[in-house]
This record gives sequence, structure tokens and C-alpha cells, in this order.
Amino acid sequence: MRLNDKVAVITGGATGIGRAIAEAYLKEGAKVVIADLRGAQEAAAELGERALGVTTDVSDQQSTRAMASAVLEHFGRIDILVNNAGIFTGLNYTPMEELAVSDWQKLMAVNVLGPWLCASAVTPAMREQGGGRIINIASVIAHLGIPFMLHYVASKGAVSAMTRSMARELAATKSGITVNAISPGYIHSPNAVANKAQHEQFEAVSAQMRTIERAQKPEDIAGAALWLASDESSTVNGQNIVVDGGIFMSL
Ligand SMILES: NC(=O)c1ccc[n+]([C@@H]2O[C@H](COP(=O)([O-])OP(=O)(O)OC[C@H]3O[C@@H](n4cnc5c(N)ncnc54)[C@H](O)[C@@H]3O)[C@@H](O)[C@H]2O)c1
Repeated sequence: MRLNDKVAVITGGATGIGRAIAEAYLKEGAKVVIADLRGAQEAAAELGERALGVTTDVSDQQSTRAMASAVLEHFGRIDILVNNAGIFTGLNYTPMEELAVSDWQKLMAVNVLGPWLCASAVTPAMREQGGGRIINIASVIAHLGIPFMLHYVASKGAVSAMTRSMARELAATKSGITVNAISPGYIHSPNAVANKAQHEQFEAVSAQMRTIERAQKPEDIAGAALWLASDESSTVNGQNIVVDGGIFMSL
């Protein structure tokens, strides 16, 4: 058991990539918290007695602080935070001149403010325990600069930059907390598939670029998230692991 008795908070864990990560962590002995705006309790009930559902809005400071308190009250500690909640699957390609300021602000509040608020809510407990793991779900889209999704690309670029800065700051303050990111390629999560017209376009573009010729499922991200939460990655910090079927290749 690679995560025996570890307590892991997974934001947006009710469905999709977050749900697959929660299931992988449970199999390795963790206790998991589904911190989601929708369906948190239902998902936790389906996942069994080692799962707790806490309705959380990651873009709201009070809500993220209340979530951390509820986890500490229920499980007594927080070892892992997966910042997975994000606005993506409902988006459609939109020319940058036509993006609404209100949509840009809402997306930034969830995708950028959210990971910072959640991290800040759990780091006091992690510091007291002598360490922890923070895993931010970014996107390969920020490496590639895909067009017609400027606000989303900008938000995931910010997550990637914030990962490095958080890793250094938490190391400089001797917290024992590591911070890494995962950048998925296009993933057939249920909500992505449900957005049919956009889904087909995303998959067509991805299929042209992939070196591993199969579509990706939420479970494909769970392996990297498990490794980053486990003792096997204890000297990995500030990294951004691309899991995209071999599209983006860095130096
Ligand atoms: N699906 C992909 O192709 C893909 C690719 C790269 C990165 N990602 C990223 O992975 C993450 C998960 O993607 P997914 O495909 O599983 O998405 P999804 O839409 O299926 O799930 C997102 C979850 O986040 C929750 N959520 C949304 N706003 C929230 C808020 N304010 N507070 C708390 N929870 C909130 C939703 O309720 C949902 O359960 C996102 O950050 C997304 O940007 C997805």
C-alpha cells in the first residue's frame, strides 16, 4: 500500500480526472476527501467509508478554509492536496476578441485563485505535521499554446508558474511540502465527452499529434498523481509532468 493511512484532498473529485485519482488513492490505502462544488457527498458515498464528501467552492476563501477544518475534524490530518477542480469541459473554441470579461474572470477565479486558496488552507496543517504533497493539475495546452481558448491557456500557464514558485517558497520556509504539477493532454472525461461538438474537435487535433496512438482516459492521469503522492517521488519538487500520449516533448 503506497498511501497507507494518508489523507488526500482532491478538489473537483466527484467526476472525471479527480474521481480517477480518488479511486487510485483509495486502492493504495489512502483516506480521500472529495472537495467539489457539485456531487461531493454522492461521490464519497459511492467510494465507501474511507471517503468524505465536502461541498467546496475552490474560488471562495471561506469555503476552502471551512473544507480544511472539516477534513481535520474528520480525519485529523491532511497529507496530500490535489488541485484538480477546474473550468474546462464546458468550454468551446472562441476567438479572443469575443471572450467575455466575466467568463475570463470566473475561469481565473476557479483555475488560478482556487489552487492558491486550497493550498493556503491546507499548508498550516501540513507544516505542523512536518510535510505534505501538493499536486496541481495544469494542462499541456499551456505548453503548446492552443488557439481559441486564451483564458484557459493563460490560467494553466499560471498554474504551472505557481507550482514552481510555491515549491520554492514552501521549501524556503522548511515546510517539508513538495509541489508538483501534472499537465494532461486531452482526456475523455465524462463531461468532456458530453460536450459533443467540441469533444470531437479536441480529439481530432490530439489524434493528429499523439505519438502513442490511443485516446486518453481519466485513469491515465491517476498513475502520475499516485507516484507524485507516494514516497517514491520524495525528491521531486517544482516539476511539471506531461501526460499527453507523447505530444509535447521538452528538452
Ligand atoms: N479533460 C481534459 O482533457 C483535461 C486536459 C487537461 C487538463 N484538464 C484539467 O483537469 C481537471 C479536471 O478535468 P475533467 O476533465 O475531469 O473536468 P470535469 O469538468 O469533468 O470535472 C471538474 C470538476 O471540478 C468541479 N468544479 C468546478 N468548479 C469548481 C469549484 N469552483 N469548486 C469546486 N469544484 C469545482 C466540477 O464540479 C467537476 O466535478 C481540470 O482542472 C481541467 O482543466 C482536463
